[in-house]
Amino acid sequence: MTQVAKNLLIVSHAPSKNTQRLAQELHHAASSATSPNQPLLVKHIPALDANASDVIAADAIILMTPENLGYMSGGMKDFFDRTYYPCLEEKQGLPVCALIRAGSDGTGTKRALETITTGLRWRWVQEPIICRGQWDTDFIRQAEELGTAMAIALQEGMI
Ligand SMILES: Cc1cc2nc3c(=O)[nH]c(=O)nc-3n(C[C@H](O)[C@H](O)[C@H](O)COP(=O)(O)O)c2cc1C
Repeated sequence: MTQVAKNLLIVSHAPSKNTQRLAQELHHAASSATSPNQPLLVKHIPALDANASDVIAADAIILMTPENLGYMSGGMKDFFDRTYYPCLEEKQGLPVCALIRAGSDGTGTKRALETITTGLRWRWVQEPIICRGQWDTDFIRQAEELGTAMAIALQEGMI
């Protein structure tokens, strides 16, 4: 029997070279984690371009944002401003996880993402990851692990 493809959506705001790299590695890892039994479509859309219809089509979502001024980036905030009400009734229970790139903290962004997604009734499948401090190549490993874990969990019906 042919399986209907599941849709994994990555919404990222990546204004710096390093955060762009993280978003690319996340996308690449998720796209590479394919199962022969369950097709998966991975879409990566910049936060400023992502719309409610993208979220409504998704079976799971990964959010990626830097922390700026103690909060998620303006681009990510704009994404929620535009999609919150159109998605509110349609996407309750949507599996979500997040990667936050923070120069020194990240907790304000984590709290804000948790507050908004609690309002949306999305379902956290793991704690948001904070890549904190000076740039470290280990952040790439964390991004890859997150992309792989979400892709496999979705394909295997675990989330
Ligand atoms: C205007 C501005 C505000 C920032 N505010 C915070 C902040 O409140 N907390 C924090 O941890 N990092 C803050 N940062 C650091 C960014 O999170 C960091 O520059 C970004 O994640 C990109 O880092 P990278 O290019 O080294 O990966 C800020 C950066 C800018 C440009």
